[in-house]
Amino acid sequence: MKKNVYISTPLYYVNAEPHLGSTYTNVVTDAWARFHRQRNRDTFFQTGTDEHGEKIVEAAEAAGRSPKEFVDEVSAKFRSVWDSCGIGYDHFIRTSDPAHIAYVQEILAQIHEQGDIYFDEYKGLYCVGCERLYTEKELEDGLCPQHRTKPVERSEPNYFFRMSKYQEKILDHLEKNPDFIRPEGYRNEALAMLREPLGDLCISRPKDRLTWGIELPFDKNYVCYVWFDALLNYTSGPASLGREEEIWSGAQHFIGKDILKPHAVFWPTILLAAGRPLYQHLNVHGFWSSGGQKMSKSLGNVVAPLEMRDRYGMDGLRYFMLRDMAFGQDADFTEEAMITRLNADLANGIGNLASRTLAMTKKYFGSEVQSIEPSEPIDHELAAAYATARGELDAQIEVLAFHRGLEALWRGIDAANKYVVETAPFKLAKDETQTARVGAILHNCLESIRVAGQLIAPFMPEASEKLREALHLEPSVWNNLDTPWGEAFPEGHVIEPSLALFPRIDKKS
Ligand code: MSP
Repeated sequence: MKKNVYISTPLYYVNAEPHLGSTYTNVVTDAWARFHRQRNRDTFFQTGTDEHGEKIVEAAEAAGRSPKEFVDEVSAKFRSVWDSCGIGYDHFIRTSDPAHIAYVQEILAQIHEQGDIYFDEYKGLYCVGCERLYTEKELEDGLCPQHRTKPVERSEPNYFFRMSKYQEKILDHLEKNPDFIRPEGYRNEALAMLREPLGDLCISRPKDRLTWGIELPFDKNYVCYVWFDALLNYTSGPASLGREEEIWSGAQHFIGKDILKPHAVFWPTILLAAGRPLYQHLNVHGFWSSGGQKMSKSLGNVVAPLEMRDRYGMDGLRYFMLRDMAFGQDADFTEEAMITRLNADLANGIGNLASRTLAMTKKYFGSEVQSIEPSEPIDHELAAAYATARGELDAQIEVLAFHRGLEALWRGIDAANKYVVETAPFKLAKDETQTARVGAILHNCLESIRVAGQLIAPFMPEASEKLREALHLEPSVWNNLDTPWGEAFPEGHVIEPSLALFPRIDKKS
């Protein structure tokens, strides 16, 4: 059966604009979606915005707007940023969508009906930034570990979801399915959470304190807790398209490590209560710091993704993020490290290979691709290096090791640059008896660019497209990863005379 893959990002809070963290989540999910699409799997990619709750009301008030005006504006901003970054989502969901609201109310009614919701006194320490309660144990020096702020004490009558009823089942599932939450460190964290007494989840807020939310279908004096509402986006989105069952069966979520608990604990219990199957995987990434420090406005080290895109191109930003962060671990962002990486791998690596191959093909053959014969063992070694790189790339990406996958692909590109040096077509070209051999060498170089260009498509879609255009290959040829080495260019095929793919970047003084 054809594999179906449903990839989701978290829904971004609209209290702030897209930043490097949310950009990374979207880049990594977009690359993963493109990778699966390229391998002919049915792929569905959803992102969107999280628009209810207290922190949104606070942000709207600070901006002097009504919550509705505010969320419309910021959600549109998110969408336009992702569009201008080339993020290829299939569905953009907003928690203020009427279809989502109706879905959440339906699930609430169902769970209430089956006795999984009860009324009680709510007491605890609440962080508005995280929109959740913290246990004393989870706090660091009495402060929220994410926001470094003191949580507020809350005490009010509210509705509770019997989360603890499902705890054992989730724990059991996690124990039996080692790749349910990955990488492993986060699985262990989730196991530790589930081995502690869990308690139940408060899922309402009284309207006299908060009106900006989804009204409970069984009590109009309350709105739904924002996390309960937002998590349901993952099934409500496909459901709004009439495709819940089909799409949901391949669900994989991507999240940052700060929101592990809602996704590893709350969400699976909600799914079980709602009578839905569990998701397939929860893929958890680490955090980006900036110049060795947590990104914060007060430190002035917040990295603006659009500024980076304008300076280095979206593909440059994508490549750096995917290559320099080991998925799951934290990484540090500096422009200096980015420039070094882009110059080494893009300008000197694939960019140089493409520019000199096209220049020589123009100079010696008027840009016409020559026969791949006569061949020599070194040509077969090059083709073999590419086959190995492709195999390693696929294996590493399948386990989310984006950095290792790209590293493996670059071993192929490096082999091609070495091949140019070793076969030295620019020297052979001086000898007229070697013309056919020079043509064959350049054909091998073009194949190197072709295969690399196809394989980079999920990670650097713009550069891949530029290479396709420069090589004058049809999208149908480009999208087929199985064309054997030496069979992509028909006889007499003419390519572009030049291509400046990744110019060298000067380091700022
Ligand atoms: N609205 C919730 C998610 C609800 S999903 C049903 C939320 N939103 S968020 O806007 O605060 O965060 C969105 C994503 O950005 C999270 O995956 C978070 O981990 C990620 N990042 C925020 N800052 C980050 C870094 N500095 N580095 C990497 N990712 C980080 O949480």
